[in-house]
Amino acid sequence: MTAIGQALSRVDGRLKVTGAARYTADVPVADAVHAAIVHSTIARGRTVSIDTAAAGAAPGVLALFTHRNMPRMNPTPKPWSHLHPHGQSYLPLQDDEIHYAGQPIAVVVAKTLDQATHAGTLIEVAYDAHQPVVFGPQTAMEAVDPPQFLWPVASSVGDADKAIASAAVRIERIYATPDRHHNQMEPHATTAVWDADGTLTLYETTQHIFGAKELLAIVLGLPTEKINVVSHFLGGGFGGKAYVWPHTLLAALAAKVLDRPVRLQLTRAQMYSMVGHQAATIQTIALGADKNGKLLGIRHESISPTPVFDSYIEYAALATRSLWGASGGIATNHRIVHVNRNTPTAMRAPHEALGHFALESAMDELAYETGVDPVALRLLNDTAIDPLSGRPFSTRAMRQCLTEGAARFGWEKRARQPRSMRDGRYLIGQGMAGAIYTHWRWPAKARVTLGSDGSALVEAGMHDIGTGTYTVMQQVAADALGLAPEKVTVRLGDTRLPASHAAIGSATMANAGAAVLLAAKAAREKAMALANDKVNIGYAELLVRHGLSSLEAEADYDPVEEANGPKAIFSFAAVFAEVRVDPELGLVRLSRFVGAYDAGRIINPKTARSQAIGGIIWGVGQALFEQSETDPVLGRFLHRNTSGYLVPTNADIPELETLFVGEFDEEASPLGAKGLGELTAVSVAPAIVNAVYHATGKRVRDLPITIEKLL
Ligand code: MOS
Repeated sequence: MTAIGQALSRVDGRLKVTGAARYTADVPVADAVHAAIVHSTIARGRTVSIDTAAAGAAPGVLALFTHRNMPRMNPTPKPWSHLHPHGQSYLPLQDDEIHYAGQPIAVVVAKTLDQATHAGTLIEVAYDAHQPVVFGPQTAMEAVDPPQFLWPVASSVGDADKAIASAAVRIERIYATPDRHHNQMEPHATTAVWDADGTLTLYETTQHIFGAKELLAIVLGLPTEKINVVSHFLGGGFGGKAYVWPHTLLAALAAKVLDRPVRLQLTRAQMYSMVGHQAATIQTIALGADKNGKLLGIRHESISPTPVFDSYIEYAALATRSLWGASGGIATNHRIVHVNRNTPTAMRAPHEALGHFALESAMDELAYETGVDPVALRLLNDTAIDPLSGRPFSTRAMRQCLTEGAARFGWEKRARQPRSMRDGRYLIGQGMAGAIYTHWRWPAKARVTLGSDGSALVEAGMHDIGTGTYTVMQQVAADALGLAPEKVTVRLGDTRLPASHAAIGSATMANAGAAVLLAAKAAREKAMALANDKVNIGYAELLVRHGLSSLEAEADYDPVEEANGPKAIFSFAAVFAEVRVDPELGLVRLSRFVGAYDAGRIINPKTARSQAIGGIIWGVGQALFEQSETDPVLGRFLHRNTSGYLVPTNADIPELETLFVGEFDEEASPLGAKGLGELTAVSVAPAIVNAVYHATGKRVRDLPITIEKLL
């Protein structure tokens, strides 16, 4: 029996539930002192004076930093790159300018965290506030085309406008998504330790240890070999910990000046301004179809806010380029408005989860307009060729997702008309949506060492961000080596291990996993060569016979980038939601959910299902609860904790059904796996929106679906 395909429980499960797993701020560091950040209360202007006299005299204070004495940093590199990724380009405490509310303006270091926090409250700041303050897409002046960030901002295949103009059925709608925050359970934290030889070790809450290392080397002006970054466990990354945020730079420099380890953990309140968020979008979709629902043209445009000093964009229309075929053409574009805000960042299937809300809502509107069943409409517009690149898909089990998902859900029993299904006082609604998710191919390294005790050690500079990486890597190596999984130990999360990519984009299994597979195969081949192919003996005996204490092999997985390969590689899904709506109270309850996923080969059905459950719950949050509110005068995010920022709780989530219908995809990865985690968050919101329309006859085009929108 192979380890791959088995529903193994997480190897680190016991550590986590017993509290033995050490998260970043738990790592004990001798003599560490504590830093607290003081923030700007205005959103635009400059500081005129910062009086630190009282704070400096407060008990326990060791050092105080403002823009006057914080060591200078090198500018963040342009263009932005995953290889040296900064969260925002404006660097903290380098000048007196204020670009957003909550910007750091001082850092206090003291013996205890309480002393540092208290001293921070004694700092007196005078501002020169400037007007106007702009903070949202609705209040900003003018939308502009941003420079290319990750992908080209615009795409055009065929002539979408002409196709739409001549279509028998046309849908043109505007959809909006709100600002949201990641709200991971574990706040961001850094402990910076400088050794006597000038080596910086950072214990860091990060999804990208090597990216943090490269970025810090540039900004601090250090050789990369003088930096180690460590992250063994993460209490939620969600994209918010993919890049380096200002507090990490402040901690590193404060520790250097003080020549003592400095720990800086963001408070829950600081999580709303010191690190990124998901920016609101305003999306315009136009669909043109024939009277049977066959798509002729699609146009999808999005506007999202970004700070005055950056050009981060949400590529909300990205997935529209490849999800459905449209014979006349598909055009997409993205624009930004510059606002007095900190820089947004990737969050929980960033681009796709936003864009699918608009596209799959519009598809539902088209289904009602044409009288075609929503599942049948998707089957009709399924495509074997990626409309954007013209390449065939490596694998695309969209048809299976749609048909098997519909069968499991019991879609054929659905009455077509809105407000036609009831259970007592409750309106019942059933909705669905299709989904596509980008597949990344990135280089990764790994090392596998066989021990003379018959064990194996896997080492990779990858992360377990809570998804089960320690477990699935063990399964991959066990099979390649022909060992039982419990004989394999996995080490991750340290830049002193073989270099790997960021734990983002749902790419870990397919890429870092492939490196582990290749390293384990290489170790096995070395052992076979030693054994001379003659005798059938175990690794332990083989090593002892040859007087070896260990046998080591490394692998360097270096795939062709997806964009340059012969096939278009994506993951796919179809999801089905049932809601019960109380028509008098406007309350929506999700009552059933079925997700059918094509993520290639599934390595571990248990961790895969666990990821899907998490993704679906993210989507329920997007549909029904989450929005970050702004003070309309001061431009501040109003949230200081999760008491007013709603997220789903157990009572909001019914039994979730998940089906994996994908097959081995050799183009995606030697493991046959495609991206899974974030795929499962995509299209949950439109499925729920479509179900709410089916229940109530009310079409909600701005998320979340709050009570007042249904009354
Ligand atoms: Mo994910 S938002 O790519 O960490």
